[in-house]
Amino acid sequence: MNPALENCFALMQVLVEYRGHPINNELQKMRRKHSMLHLDVLTAIYHFAKIGSGHILEIGPYLGGSAIAAAYGVRDSGQPKTIITIEPGGRCDHPTLPTKNILKDLKKNLAKFGVAHLITLIEGYSWKEETIAAVRQRLRPGSVGLLVIDADGNVKRDLDLFHDLLADGCWIVIDDYYMPGAKSKEVLTKPQVNALVSAGQLEPLGLYGWGTWIGRWPGGRPATVP
Ligand SMILES: C[S@@+](CC[C@H](N)C(=O)[O-])C[C@H]1O[C@@H](n2cnc3c(N)ncnc32)[C@H](O)[C@@H]1O
Repeated sequence: MNPALENCFALMQVLVEYRGHPINNELQKMRRKHSMLHLDVLTAIYHFAKIGSGHILEIGPYLGGSAIAAAYGVRDSGQPKTIITIEPGGRCDHPTLPTKNILKDLKKNLAKFGVAHLITLIEGYSWKEETIAAVRQRLRPGSVGLLVIDADGNVKRDLDLFHDLLADGCWIVIDDYYMPGAKSKEVLTKPQVNALVSAGQLEPLGLYGWGTWIGRWPGGRPATVP
């Protein structure tokens, strides 16, 4: 098998192994009320946060599902890792997970799941000057080992803003690569991700859950799945 394909299979196998692990139930319970992401994607976020050596940057936590999965990973890694999550807030009339106040419910959920102390919430849009400054105050260049983008679909803009913070081999989780029936974000995300892959700036590891792209930031060295 070629090394790229071997990496894809290694990640799939890791996720299958977690199905028999207690974290599977913990993530499943939390996911039902607080996340739009598939359990496999939350499990991948948990795994990368647990095994990775760098800090974690997230754009778009909404009610906290993905942030809580990352925080569980950091908790179980036993290592001090910074988790920064960026969220502007507002209301959302989502059919199954609606909220009148994203930030209020996000903070409530981080506290409810016992991870508020592990997460620094930066309130604002990722592209705002003050948000960028607040992120850069807390994360050094090359220090991020996991980047999760699940925001407004403009992945290239966010990578342009923050790519220097990523470590070589940084895990990347990008939602909305494939969105059957609701194409608004996919129209932006998919061509942007494909162009970055073609340019050798992203290395794909597959499509998971309901259309979330997972891969790595190759940086200067070849990426392998541990
Ligand atoms: C699909 S939801 C995220 C779902 C979440 N990851 C989960 O586990 O359920 C998208 C979120 O991104 C936020 N958002 C949109 N544009 C953003 C931006 N430019 N910067 C940061 N967050 C943004 C929205 O307010 C919303 O809360």
